[in-house]
Amino acid sequence: MPAINILAISGSLRPNSSNNAVIHAAAALVHGEVNFVIYEGLGNLPHFNDSKDPPAEVLELRNMLGSADGVLISSPEYAFGVPGVLKNALDWTVSSGEFVNKPVALITAATGGNNAHASLLLTFTALSAQLPPGHQLLISFVRAKLNESGEVKDPATVQAIKSVMDALITTIKSNRENDEVA
Ligand SMILES: Cc1cc2nc3c(=O)[nH]c(=O)nc-3n(C[C@H](O)[C@H](O)[C@H](O)COP(=O)(O)O)c2cc1C
Repeated sequence: MPAINILAISGSLRPNSSNNAVIHAAAALVHGEVNFVIYEGLGNLPHFNDSKDPPAEVLELRNMLGSADGVLISSPEYAFGVPGVLKNALDWTVSSGEFVNKPVALITAATGGNNAHASLLLTFTALSAQLPPGHQLLISFVRAKLNESGEVKDPATVQAIKSVMDALITTIKSNRENDEVA
């Protein structure tokens, strides 16, 4: 079976981001069959303007999403909402459709996070992504789950992240099998 390509996007641009730590924890939990790529371009994306001739940064994001078998999003909550940089990136995909039927795992890691998590679930519904309950995880009080080096080492949190990644990979494999039958 060809490698499974997972693209991971952190919704935070902060230095020492806890969501970056979650993404790195997820990367360490997947096996050799997975090609795990972290998207680094979020901060360079122009503001969404629905251009029919979008700039290279947008085309790169769309290409990376298009060639991914699944996408991991880990996002904080800022001011009771989704970080603007992440929403901006998602808005660029509405017309191009890279998330349609795309398996997505959504982790929200924040102090509380309920608002951003619910909002992102709505957005991914609008984008027609494949995001069943097993692909979803809310990590509240995330800072308390990090060690002194800023890594996610809390056993229950690591296990919860592993469950989400396992579910995402299972969905990707199941989709492949269904595609082969069809
Ligand atoms: C500007 C700002 C606003 C925040 N607002 C919220 C909020 O509304 N709800 C929440 O649960 N956490 C809030 N937080 C806490 C962050 O979710 C928490 O610090 C988280 O670790 C940030 O993720 P990051 O480290 O990946 O950037 C806020 C943090 C900042 C910096």
